[in-house]
Amino acid sequence: MATPMNLTSNFFFFIFTVTIIYVAYTFPKLQQNQTNLAFYVHEHFTGEDTTAATVAGKAGPTSNIFHFGTVAVVDDPVTVGPSVDSKVIGRAQGLYINSQLDGKGLHMAFSVIFTDGKFKGSTLEIQGSDISGMKEREFGIVSGTGYFRFVKGYGVMETVFKDLAKLRGTLKLNVTVKHY
Ligand SMILES: *[C@@H]1O[C@H](CO)[C@@H](O)[C@H](O)[C@H]1NC(C)=O
Repeated sequence: MATPMNLTSNFFFFIFTVTIIYVAYTFPKLQQNQTNLAFYVHEHFTGEDTTAATVAGKAGPTSNIFHFGTVAVVDDPVTVGPSVDSKVIGRAQGLYINSQLDGKGLHMAFSVIFTDGKFKGSTLEIQGSDISGMKEREFGIVSGTGYFRFVKGYGVMETVFKDLAKLRGTLKLNVTVKHY
Protein backbone atom coordinates (compact mmCIF):
# COMPACT_ATOMS: atom_id res chain seq x y z
CA MET A 1 0.00 0.00 0.00
CA ALA A 2 1.40 3.39 -1.05
CA THR A 3 2.12 5.92 1.66
CA PRO A 4 1.50 9.65 0.92
CA MET A 5 5.29 10.06 0.63
CA ASN A 6 5.48 7.46 -2.13
CA LEU A 7 2.60 9.07 -3.97
CA THR A 8 4.44 12.41 -3.91
CA SER A 9 7.71 10.99 -5.21
CA ASN A 10 5.86 8.98 -7.87
CA PHE A 11 4.14 12.15 -8.97
CA PHE A 12 7.44 14.04 -9.28
CA PHE A 13 9.02 11.11 -11.09
CA PHE A 14 6.13 11.21 -13.55
CA ILE A 15 6.51 14.97 -14.17
CA PHE A 16 10.27 14.55 -14.55
CA THR A 17 9.81 11.80 -17.16
CA VAL A 18 7.24 13.81 -19.12
CA THR A 19 9.59 16.80 -19.15
CA ILE A 20 12.53 14.72 -20.44
CA ILE A 21 10.38 13.22 -23.20
CA TYR A 22 9.07 16.66 -24.17
CA VAL A 23 12.58 18.13 -24.35
CA ALA A 24 13.90 15.13 -26.28
CA TYR A 25 11.21 15.53 -28.93
CA THR A 26 11.26 19.34 -29.11
CA PHE A 27 14.96 20.20 -29.19
CA PRO A 28 15.88 18.43 -32.43
CA LYS A 29 13.07 20.36 -34.15
CA LEU A 30 14.52 23.67 -32.94
CA GLN A 31 17.90 22.85 -34.42
CA GLN A 32 18.62 24.74 -37.61
CA ASN A 33 19.02 23.07 -40.96
CA GLN A 34 21.31 24.49 -43.58
CA THR A 35 20.60 24.54 -47.31
CA ASN A 36 23.02 25.55 -50.03
CA LEU A 37 21.86 26.28 -53.55
CA ALA A 38 23.30 27.95 -56.60
CA PHE A 39 21.37 29.37 -59.54
CA TYR A 40 21.79 31.81 -62.39
CA VAL A 41 19.93 35.06 -63.07
CA HIS A 42 19.79 36.51 -66.58
CA GLU A 43 19.39 40.27 -66.74
CA HIS A 44 18.70 41.96 -70.09
CA PHE A 45 18.15 45.70 -70.32
CA THR A 46 17.99 45.45 -74.13
CA GLY A 47 16.94 42.95 -76.79
CA GLU A 48 13.77 41.05 -77.67
CA ASP A 49 14.03 39.15 -74.40
CA THR A 50 14.30 42.28 -72.26
CA THR A 51 13.76 41.50 -68.57
CA ALA A 52 14.84 44.77 -66.93
CA ALA A 53 13.95 48.43 -67.33
CA THR A 54 15.01 51.69 -65.74
CA VAL A 55 11.82 53.37 -64.53
CA ALA A 56 12.97 56.46 -62.68
CA GLY A 57 16.03 58.46 -61.81
CA LYS A 58 17.69 61.78 -61.38
CA ALA A 59 17.80 62.35 -65.15
CA GLY A 60 14.34 60.95 -65.85
CA PRO A 61 13.18 57.63 -67.24
CA THR A 62 15.85 57.58 -69.96
CA SER A 63 18.57 57.46 -67.31
CA ASN A 64 21.16 54.72 -67.28
CA ILE A 65 21.45 52.08 -64.55
CA PHE A 66 25.03 53.32 -63.96
CA HIS A 67 23.85 56.79 -62.89
CA PHE A 68 23.27 57.59 -59.24
CA GLY A 69 19.56 57.75 -58.45
CA THR A 70 18.34 55.40 -61.16
CA VAL A 71 15.69 52.85 -60.26
CA ALA A 72 15.32 49.68 -62.33
CA VAL A 73 12.64 47.02 -62.15
CA VAL A 74 13.54 43.46 -63.09
CA ASP A 75 11.72 40.23 -63.85
CA ASP A 76 14.68 38.02 -64.72
CA PRO A 77 14.57 34.30 -65.53
CA VAL A 78 16.34 32.05 -63.00
CA THR A 79 18.01 28.92 -64.41
CA VAL A 80 19.93 25.94 -63.05
CA GLY A 81 22.93 26.55 -65.31
CA PRO A 82 24.86 29.50 -66.72
CA SER A 83 23.14 29.19 -70.12
CA VAL A 84 19.85 31.04 -70.56
CA ASP A 85 18.65 27.89 -72.35
CA SER A 86 19.20 25.68 -69.31
CA LYS A 87 16.21 24.65 -67.19
CA VAL A 88 14.21 27.62 -65.87
CA ILE A 89 13.37 27.19 -62.17
CA GLY A 90 12.02 30.63 -61.33
CA ARG A 91 12.04 34.41 -61.64
CA ALA A 92 13.97 37.12 -59.85
CA GLN A 93 11.53 40.01 -59.42
CA GLY A 94 12.21 43.33 -57.76
CA LEU A 95 14.30 46.46 -57.74
CA TYR A 96 17.80 47.76 -58.27
CA ILE A 97 18.50 51.30 -57.09
CA ASN A 98 21.74 53.00 -58.02
CA SER A 99 22.67 54.33 -54.62
CA GLN A 100 26.34 55.16 -54.89
CA LEU A 101 27.23 58.79 -55.73
CA ASP A 102 29.79 57.79 -58.37
CA GLY A 103 27.23 55.46 -59.98
CA LYS A 104 29.25 52.30 -59.31
CA GLY A 105 27.06 50.72 -56.68
CA LEU A 106 23.53 49.38 -56.65
CA HIS A 107 21.20 48.47 -53.84
CA MET A 108 19.15 45.40 -54.70
CA ALA A 109 15.95 44.11 -53.21
CA PHE A 110 14.22 41.28 -55.02
CA SER A 111 12.36 38.01 -54.56
CA VAL A 112 13.49 34.76 -56.11
CA ILE A 113 10.25 32.96 -56.90
CA PHE A 114 10.82 29.28 -57.57
CA THR A 115 8.40 27.92 -60.17
CA ASP A 116 10.04 24.54 -60.77
CA GLY A 117 12.48 22.08 -59.22
CA LYS A 118 12.94 21.11 -55.58
CA PHE A 119 11.88 24.52 -54.22
CA LYS A 120 8.84 25.07 -56.46
CA GLY A 121 6.32 27.34 -54.75
CA SER A 122 8.85 28.79 -52.31
CA THR A 123 10.54 32.19 -52.35
CA LEU A 124 13.72 33.81 -51.06
CA GLU A 125 13.96 37.51 -50.25
CA ILE A 126 17.28 38.99 -51.24
CA GLN A 127 18.64 42.33 -50.14
CA GLY A 128 22.09 43.86 -50.35
CA SER A 129 24.58 45.94 -52.21
CA ASP A 130 25.91 45.16 -55.65
CA ILE A 131 29.19 47.03 -56.22
CA SER A 132 30.28 47.04 -59.88
CA GLY A 133 34.02 46.67 -59.31
CA MET A 134 33.82 43.61 -57.06
CA LYS A 135 34.17 40.13 -58.54
CA GLU A 136 32.21 38.50 -55.73
CA ARG A 137 29.52 40.49 -53.95
CA GLU A 138 28.04 39.17 -50.72
CA PHE A 139 24.41 39.90 -49.94
CA GLY A 140 21.83 38.99 -47.33
CA ILE A 141 18.90 36.59 -47.44
CA VAL A 142 16.43 38.32 -45.18
CA SER A 143 13.48 35.93 -45.27
CA GLY A 144 11.55 33.43 -47.34
CA THR A 145 8.35 31.48 -47.76
CA GLY A 146 7.33 27.85 -48.18
CA TYR A 147 10.38 25.61 -47.76
CA PHE A 148 12.30 28.75 -46.74
CA ARG A 149 10.06 29.92 -43.89
CA PHE A 150 12.08 31.53 -41.07
CA VAL A 151 15.13 31.58 -43.32
CA LYS A 152 18.22 33.71 -42.68
CA GLY A 153 21.41 33.57 -44.63
CA TYR A 154 23.80 35.00 -47.13
CA GLY A 155 24.76 34.63 -50.73
CA VAL A 156 27.64 35.39 -53.04
CA MET A 157 26.95 36.91 -56.44
CA GLU A 158 29.33 36.73 -59.36
CA THR A 159 28.94 38.07 -62.89
CA VAL A 160 29.63 35.13 -65.22
CA PHE A 161 28.66 36.90 -68.45
CA LYS A 162 28.57 40.61 -69.22
CA ASP A 163 27.86 42.63 -72.36
CA LEU A 164 28.25 46.19 -71.10
CA ALA A 165 27.35 47.84 -74.43
CA LYS A 166 24.02 46.01 -74.59
CA LEU A 167 23.52 45.97 -70.82
CA ARG A 168 22.97 42.23 -70.73
CA GLY A 169 24.46 39.92 -68.16
CA THR A 170 24.29 36.63 -66.29
CA LEU A 171 24.79 36.42 -62.55
CA LYS A 172 25.63 33.36 -60.50
CA LEU A 173 24.10 33.38 -57.04
CA ASN A 174 25.38 30.91 -54.48
CA VAL A 175 23.16 31.00 -51.44
CA THR A 176 23.51 29.47 -47.97
CA VAL A 177 20.55 29.66 -45.61
CA LYS A 178 19.64 28.41 -42.16
CA HIS A 179 16.10 27.42 -41.38
CA TYR A 180 14.09 25.02 -39.25
C1 LIG B 1 28.86 27.62 -53.22
O1 LIG B 1 29.72 28.08 -52.22
C2 LIG B 1 30.22 27.04 -51.37
C3 LIG B 1 31.09 27.68 -50.32
O2 LIG B 1 30.46 28.76 -49.72
C4 LIG B 1 30.99 26.04 -52.18
O3 LIG B 1 31.39 24.99 -51.35
C5 LIG B 1 30.12 25.50 -53.31
O4 LIG B 1 30.91 24.66 -54.13
C6 LIG B 1 29.55 26.64 -54.12
N1 LIG B 1 28.64 26.08 -55.11
C7 LIG B 1 28.72 26.37 -56.40
C8 LIG B 1 27.74 25.67 -57.28
O5 LIG B 1 29.53 27.16 -56.84
